[in-house]
Amino acid sequence: MVDILLGLQWGDEGKGKVVDFLCPAYQMVARFQGGPNAGHSLKINGQSFVLNTIPSGIFREHCKNLIGSGVVIDPAKLQIEIEKVKAAGAPVEKNLLIARKAHLILPTHIMLDAAQENAKGTAKIGSTLRGISPTYQDKIGRAGLRMGDIHEKDFDKKYQLLAAKHIQMIEALGGNTEKTETEKAFMEAVEYLRAFQMVDSEYYVNDFIFRGHRILAEGAQGTMLDIDYGTYPYVTSSNTISAGACTGLGISPQKIKHVYGVFKAYCTRVGSGPFPSELDNQAGEDLRQKGGEFGATTGRPRRTGWLDLPALNYAIMLNGADKLIMTKADVLCGLPEVDICTAYKTANGLTDKLPYDLCTEDMQMHLEKFAGWDDSLHQAETYNAAPQTFKDYIKFIEQSCGMGLTAISTGPEREKTFFME
Ligand code: GDP
Ligand code: IMO
Ligand code: MG
Repeated sequence: MVDILLGLQWGDEGKGKVVDFLCPAYQMVARFQGGPNAGHSLKINGQSFVLNTIPSGIFREHCKNLIGSGVVIDPAKLQIEIEKVKAAGAPVEKNLLIARKAHLILPTHIMLDAAQENAKGTAKIGSTLRGISPTYQDKIGRAGLRMGDIHEKDFDKKYQLLAAKHIQMIEALGGNTEKTETEKAFMEAVEYLRAFQMVDSEYYVNDFIFRGHRILAEGAQGTMLDIDYGTYPYVTSSNTISAGACTGLGISPQKIKHVYGVFKAYCTRVGSGPFPSELDNQAGEDLRQKGGEFGATTGRPRRTGWLDLPALNYAIMLNGADKLIMTKADVLCGLPEVDICTAYKTANGLTDKLPYDLCTEDMQMHLEKFAGWDDSLHQAETYNAAPQTFKDYIKFIEQSCGMGLTAISTGPEREKTFFME
């Protein structure tokens, strides 16, 4: 049986913390898409970790952690990450598994990412520049290299051919073709990864399910960055929605039980693209500072805004989310008033549906105002002990989403979580 956990907004909803928290109920955590563009933060015994490619169950002794077929892997970055978590005591050799069908990010994919972004000029996506888009382009273009290829005799030849193609593409874009240290680091990391457990993950995962184990499929990015249903073209290059777990792990939809949707009590977005409920003002800046809204991977300031209910309900629908978890409710403590975007104002009146193209639609947010709550939320150990104005705010969201929340997170630590059931 598989449950999925994913982001319902533009990423950085706090998925890492929630996965780590839910982990004791699962025997495996499996990442199903994305790559080192992700940054999932965990805070354990006062120590913070950011995971990019390794699943967020890696610090749990009992738990297998699979980097699934739908993920794209940068060997050099993965090597550094493995060494980092190993040094912190994570049982990596025993519990980390890598899917043979996961595609490889080459150094030239990263160079090509920069060249393609630069060529877009003012329309740039605001990519993390980790080589994600070019790697998925090669995957779909049936030209990519996969993890399993590193054991093949002709790996070097295939690598050189693909890298040469990238150099030609970069030249055509007028980009920088100077190969740096990265190629050496890539080759050394490939050598290093040869020693790790590689699996035909579709067999491994299905056998695991057959034996009665529970798997938590961990998504990266968020629904509004999905390649098909996000704010295209300002999206990432994979299916971040629940359907992506089936293709990314090789499992049937029949194996999926629950879908956990994680969302912040407000919204953030990093990179370019439409953001209907954005607060491009002092209130937004205050939220950024209070919430520590700076990218876990790139350190870039995240754009901030009010909770966007039309977008949240769109995400719940696309994913079939049946368990909702709100994070960062504590960040709003102390505000005299908290707003929620409940609809969009367009030329044709109010709507709670997302338009075909958020980029070209001229619309403003329609807000409802709620009384704020004080700092006593920080001390509350149960939902019952939370301030009444906070409960009123939660009730409104639950009514709008048509279901109760499963849990609310009020801090980055494992313990800072209320279960509502
Ligand atoms: P992810 O990409 O979805 O895993 O989220 P990130 O790790 O990129 O960003 C979430 C940030 O918020 C991290 O710094 C977390 O430590 C932090 N965080 C998670 N949950 C909470 C919460 O409930 N309250 C506060 N204040 N911080 C949180
Ligand atoms: P986690 O898993 C937030 C954004 C980038 C950019 C767009 C495309 O930590 O939630 P890409 O590098 O994929 O080509 O960038 O997507 N983006 C993220 N934003 N959280 C993430 O991951 C993201 N991964 C990519 O900022 O706008
Ligand atoms: Mg993140």
